[in-house]
Amino acid sequence: MSVLGEQEAVLPEVDPQRPSVARIYNHLLGGPHNFAVDRHAAAAARAAMPELPEILRFNRQFLAEAVRLAAEAGIEQYLDLGCGIPSDGDGYDVARRLRPRSRIVGVDLEPVAFVHGRRRVAGDPNADVLHADVLDAAGVLASPPVRDLIDPARPVCLLLVSVAHFIPDTARLSAALDAYRTAVAPGSLLAITHACRKESSPRVEQVRRVYSNTTAPMVTRDAGETAALFGDWPLLPPGVAAMGQWCPAPGRSSASGIAANASLAGVARRT
Ligand SMILES: C[S@@+](CC[C@H](N)C(=O)[O-])C[C@H]1O[C@@H](n2cnc3c(N)ncnc32)[C@H](O)[C@@H]1O
Repeated sequence: MSVLGEQEAVLPEVDPQRPSVARIYNHLLGGPHNFAVDRHAAAAARAAMPELPEILRFNRQFLAEAVRLAAEAGIEQYLDLGCGIPSDGDGYDVARRLRPRSRIVGVDLEPVAFVHGRRRVAGDPNADVLHADVLDAAGVLASPPVRDLIDPARPVCLLLVSVAHFIPDTARLSAALDAYRTAVAPGSLLAITHACRKESSPRVEQVRRVYSNTTAPMVTRDAGETAALFGDWPLLPPGVAAMGQWCPAPGRSSASGIAANASLAGVARRT
């Protein structure tokens, strides 16, 4: 049985027979906005990699850290590229809590993320959600939500969290990121997380096979390829590093284990 509302079920772009990365993620986070095919795909991915919930927790911990770094730097504008279906601890949620007056635009290709994202920001004059492909940087940057809410003269925090590994075309991804980086003011931050190729194993290959039947096939990249996505912006310490280095265990300088090493993360600042 679908747990989506009527509005989503009638959206022409939603194919309830095809798993979507956004809806799989929503299910893995315990959210209700997903179909049976998404839950089956999530179960298959979890069977291949039981650490998946822990990997998601690391991702969310890093996202909160990136938003905190931006807030501490006085940044009050967020462009959340691949924002996902709304959930506790996502970009909007963390930015609103840390900087209540910040301006936030989310962008996502998934209609369910768009519909629920718009529903959440209804009545919030400082936030909006755009239904678009992040690879269309010119379209995103020229869109009314971005033009109305994001002041290009002031620093912006660009978030691309757990999204780039669903974009296999490196040339198009790099070109889009170049455009976003060029469009924002000095002092802006770019935060990226990415599935790490170093950890590729039969288990990772199984997860990749699960995602090959979804709306977006998954690719892994190594630290050098991930670092290249930041262009010439200087990386903040510890650089492009395993998630466990960005999100240490309590009282430790890093976290270890499969989940801590499955993804890479980095934050860079425009000088
Ligand atoms: C794993 S979710 C991550 C959501 C959120 N960034 C987070 O970390 O909680 C990946 C999201 O990226 C979106 N996505 C993937 N490729 C995209 C693209 N080319 N343009 C826009 N959104 C995309 C998916 O629809 C999905 O919502």
